[in-house]
Amino acid sequence: MSSPDTEFIRILGATATSDTEEAPPPRVVAPTLPESLPILGLSDIVIFPAMVAPLLVDTAQSIRLIDDVVEGDRLLGLVLQRRADVENPQPEDLWEGGCAARVLKMLKFPDNTVRVLVEGLWRIRIKEYETQTPYLRAKVDVLRDITTDSVELAALARNAHQQFQEIIKLTPALSDQVKIAALNTEVPGNLTDLIAANLNLNLEERQHLLEINDVKERLLRLKPLMDRELEVLTLSSKIQNDVTATMAKSQRDFFLREQIRAIQRELGEVDPTVAEANVLREQIEQNSLPEEVQKIAGKELERLQQMSPAVAEYALTRNYLDWLITLPWNKSTEDRFDIEHAGKILEEQHFGLDKVKERLLEFIAVIKLKQDLKGPILCLVGPPGVGKTSLGKSVAEALGRKFVRISLGGLRDEAEIRGHRRTYVGAMPGRIIQSLRRAESRNPVILLDEIDKVGSDFRGDPASALLEVLDPQQNNNFTDHYLDVSFDLSHVLFITTANWLDPIHPALRDRLEVINLPSYTAAEKLQIAKRYLVPRQLDEHGLQRKQVKFPDATLRRLIVDYTHEAGVRQLEREIASLTRKAARKIISHNGHPEPPNITDKSLPDYLGQPRFISDTAEKITEFGIAMGLAWTPVGGEILFIEATRMPGKGKLLLTGSLGDVMKESAQTSLSYLRSQAKSLELEMGDFEKYDIHVHVPAGATPKDGPSAGATIVVALASLLTKRLVRSDLAMTGEISLRGRILRVGGIKEKVLAAARSGLKQIILPEQNRNDWVEVPEEVRSKMKVHFARHISDLIRMALRQRQG
Ligand SMILES: Nc1ncnc2c1ncn2[C@@H]1O[C@H](COP(=O)(O)OP(=O)(O)OP(=O)(O)O)[C@@H](O)[C@H]1O
Ligand SMILES: [Mg+2]
Repeated sequence: MSSPDTEFIRILGATATSDTEEAPPPRVVAPTLPESLPILGLSDIVIFPAMVAPLLVDTAQSIRLIDDVVEGDRLLGLVLQRRADVENPQPEDLWEGGCAARVLKMLKFPDNTVRVLVEGLWRIRIKEYETQTPYLRAKVDVLRDITTDSVELAALARNAHQQFQEIIKLTPALSDQVKIAALNTEVPGNLTDLIAANLNLNLEERQHLLEINDVKERLLRLKPLMDRELEVLTLSSKIQNDVTATMAKSQRDFFLREQIRAIQRELGEVDPTVAEANVLREQIEQNSLPEEVQKIAGKELERLQQMSPAVAEYALTRNYLDWLITLPWNKSTEDRFDIEHAGKILEEQHFGLDKVKERLLEFIAVIKLKQDLKGPILCLVGPPGVGKTSLGKSVAEALGRKFVRISLGGLRDEAEIRGHRRTYVGAMPGRIIQSLRRAESRNPVILLDEIDKVGSDFRGDPASALLEVLDPQQNNNFTDHYLDVSFDLSHVLFITTANWLDPIHPALRDRLEVINLPSYTAAEKLQIAKRYLVPRQLDEHGLQRKQVKFPDATLRRLIVDYTHEAGVRQLEREIASLTRKAARKIISHNGHPEPPNITDKSLPDYLGQPRFISDTAEKITEFGIAMGLAWTPVGGEILFIEATRMPGKGKLLLTGSLGDVMKESAQTSLSYLRSQAKSLELEMGDFEKYDIHVHVPAGATPKDGPSAGATIVVALASLLTKRLVRSDLAMTGEISLRGRILRVGGIKEKVLAAARSGLKQIILPEQNRNDWVEVPEEVRSKMKVHFARHISDLIRMALRQRQG
């Protein structure tokens, strides 16, 4: 048996070349072939005519065959085995078609193998085997190429020639000899054999080609095989090109960048990334970072230096380093614990609020004495626009500290407080760390504004993060997820603000020292407007004090007819709007000789018709309507309650987004009235035949609380007695089933709301007598108060006498 050995092919190839250099192997073509030939089975190669190939021979039988052949005429038949693994193939193991060949050279090797170089001569077909020992010998027919002189054949041959040239171009591995032979072979039969021998085909495809001696048929069979090969080669060459193109681009960029660096070095310019690293190193050294931080920064810097500035991580690391370097780890401002100075500043910037200011000064005094901030956190609570935020700012100024405000309104994501881990895309430190960087000091006043508006959802609970921030036991090593190294917050003075305490997380509420800021009375608003708001607005609009006059009457009308609020925010907006209009007037009159005097009468010209008509607090002209007073986070409110009666089945209907407590108040009221129908002279009629409906307008706003009880009972009593409720009167109070009137909260805000709406009388529970004293004198003097112990008092005070 025989087989080519790749190793051997190379050695022999070399030998063959040197042979050609000396003298090309004589192509002795035996004129005729003997009738029978020794047959050598080939396991993994098909030899074609004119093909020269090395073979490895290693079985005793085959070696004997070669020995005899070389002794004789050197001719033998080479036939492919049907199965490669048969050692001494028998006739049935061999294909019928083969190739007669000549042994050009034989080499014996020390390992008892023989290598021969053979040259294919003609196609043969085995007729019959003569003998099988000592090796196969068979009678053969020579199959000469059949060629017809047709145009079709010529065309096919030319096409094959071209395709093979293309294949050669795309297959750099083919040897030069093949390339030369391909160029010089013109006889179609020889060409097909050359192609068949060198095309990438499997053994069976080759064997089939060997067995065809009609040249045209061979060309036709080759065609699809060549097409396939060309397609594969083109595709793989395209892939190869694409890969090299992308490689080339990034390599090109790299080289260019390196060149820029080299040029910069030549010019004596420092490489910008090196310069950047140097600056950062200097900053790390100078900014007296804590030891731990310095270590981390050093490591990050090292990493940075090993990165190309082109990669995304460079910018991220750079950014992180920036944060580490610029945070005020050890920078602080000096505190000024001067109570007198502090008092002056609070006084200068805020009108009234005496109690609040006193509490703030006490707070400052305690900090001074204790020399630390490990106390409760201040929480300024009150309706909008009463100066909570601006008081916080004043405290910072009084202490000589930096001030930063963090608005917590609508905050739901814990990461807003504590930052995102650096692995997140676009990660940033949380707001606490951000505001410290802004403050450039580690002991600023941080105002956590609107702490009652912190929500929580799937993104974590910001309240618990806040708890950690505000806990003096824990906040000396507050860890932001982004920084990943703790920062000491114990020097920060936190002040919080809220509209009301209810929504605040109980654990958080526990930490807070609450200072209540009440609504302002009209007189207070007037003073605030005169002394602070008007001058500030004039300043902001670049106007002199003398240029625009705001008489008191104007401000008063603004307060009463144009705003309806607990604080002064809307008032400030209206003043700003008037100032803008005045400024425009001055410009268009080109230095108006007369300063525009904004009188109360001219207000509608500037601002349009009044939005709130105060003194006509909706005259009550029907039975079953009463005015109550409610407390809300934005201050007191007037609340109308309407009751009506219709044929039905004795049911009580309640509408207007009422909470459970309020619904129960309505039930209680009705039950009480029914039980006392006689003594109260109620016209109950046949209860079973009527439904009663109680509605509280502004139905979209949810309402709850027990303090509407008094109002509901009065509205029902009015309906059932057919007596009108006084229209200049409002009331508040909880009721019991026995008819007692119980104490309620928020009296001050409620009374101020009644005053804002121009009401002249008010009914409060007897138990609230002490709270009445807290109401500013200015309001009390203008209002008549009645104190009620029992529902019978209420009915007597609130209902008019029946007419006619
Ligand atoms: N007593 C006061 N003296 C002087 N100016 C005041 C006073 N109260 C409020 N202001 C001014 O009113 C404006 C609104 O106040 P601020 O923004 O502090 O209200 P707030 O209580 O924080 O309201 P919100 O709850 O809506 O945040 C500010 O310009 C503030 O200076
Ligand atoms: Mg505020």
